[in-house]
Amino acid sequence: MNKTTRRLSIDPDNPAAATIAEAAAVIRAGGLVAFPTETVYGLGANAFDATAVEGIFAAKERLKTDPLIVHIADAADLASVVAEKTPRQISKMVQAVARHIWPGPLTIVVPRHSAVPPAVTAGRETVAVRMPRHPVILQLIRSAGTPIAAPSANRFGHTSPTTADHVLHDLDGRIDMVLDGGPTLIGLESTVLDLTGSTPTVLRPGQITFDALTWVLERDVVLRSDEAQVNDESMPAPGMLKRHYAPTADLWVYSGPPEAARAWLHEQIQALTAEGKRVGLLVCNEDALQLGHEGVDVEQLGPIRDLDLIAQRLYAGMRALDARRPDIILARDFGTSGLALALSDRLLRAARRIAEPG
Ligand code: TXA
Ligand code: MG
Repeated sequence: MNKTTRRLSIDPDNPAAATIAEAAAVIRAGGLVAFPTETVYGLGANAFDATAVEGIFAAKERLKTDPLIVHIADAADLASVVAEKTPRQISKMVQAVARHIWPGPLTIVVPRHSAVPPAVTAGRETVAVRMPRHPVILQLIRSAGTPIAAPSANRFGHTSPTTADHVLHDLDGRIDMVLDGGPTLIGLESTVLDLTGSTPTVLRPGQITFDALTWVLERDVVLRSDEAQVNDESMPAPGMLKRHYAPTADLWVYSGPPEAARAWLHEQIQALTAEGKRVGLLVCNEDALQLGHEGVDVEQLGPIRDLDLIAQRLYAGMRALDARRPDIILARDFGTSGLALALSDRLLRAARRIAEPG
């Protein structure tokens, strides 16, 4: 694994056809290309080329048991990815998703077409599928003429990349190309929704919320709990691994009401700086104003009312703090309604220590 990684700039709104064609040629030749999506950067290979797909696992040092998402550009592509004999009730939900949510930040888990290599699905009989809405990946899929299997373009277990710099930090020399389309818009990975069980189940929360899913599917939707997962004999969805999305520094997160969270953050800052520890603070603007002081590295994610902005900046903020090598990064969660659920989920999974009231 000693490749020269080419970095090509690309206009995210109006990608140059020649640049897309170069990247598509790499995909067709079995190579690895990282690209922006509306959520985070992905690391892609031809979904029907098992050897190329295995290259993704090697580059990321990803566990072989963690399946990839197949990205498609058009509803017609579903026929090559989803099992022909998919139960009617599942097909109806797939159509509803395709009509009302795609292209967008939602991944669905459905029965796998036999043509999808086991390397993509980690040997499962189900496959995760997403139609993203970012022009660069959509045109890359069309130009390559094949669905593209892609996880987030980071080293396994690390924070997902929201810029080309993040991708290169983790994967330079391990992949063929990165298309640099600037920072991603949403900043958190897609919602993952499993449609294969008796009740549609969210495996990973994201920008597409429960309300939206319930409305579109006209059915109740549940969140898979970590406990359910422990009892589940099949493999867990590894985005749900307890420790994931993590920075290198120790991240401590308070999970509870804002007032208590600020009191806890204040206490920790005092205690840790007194011990001579370098402290990083990853918080909303209001918390930063109250708590920030000399000697503490602060990343302000945005005003608390603007969770979209906070989500967009979360991973970049985590990486920026990490680069300054603090001993401990302190943060608090954002509650559980709407997009806050996804934000809190990522923070708590990245945390080495979680503090709670009482
Ligand atoms: O926004 C996103 O989803 C980004 C962009 C690049 O599309 N991709 C992404 O991929 O976050 P990745 O591999 O980092 O996360 C995919 C998640 C993992 O938690 C994986 O375990 C789960 O989807 N997954 C994939 N296939 C599955 C399957 N057949 N059953 C259950 N979970 C699955
Ligand atoms: Mg990932």
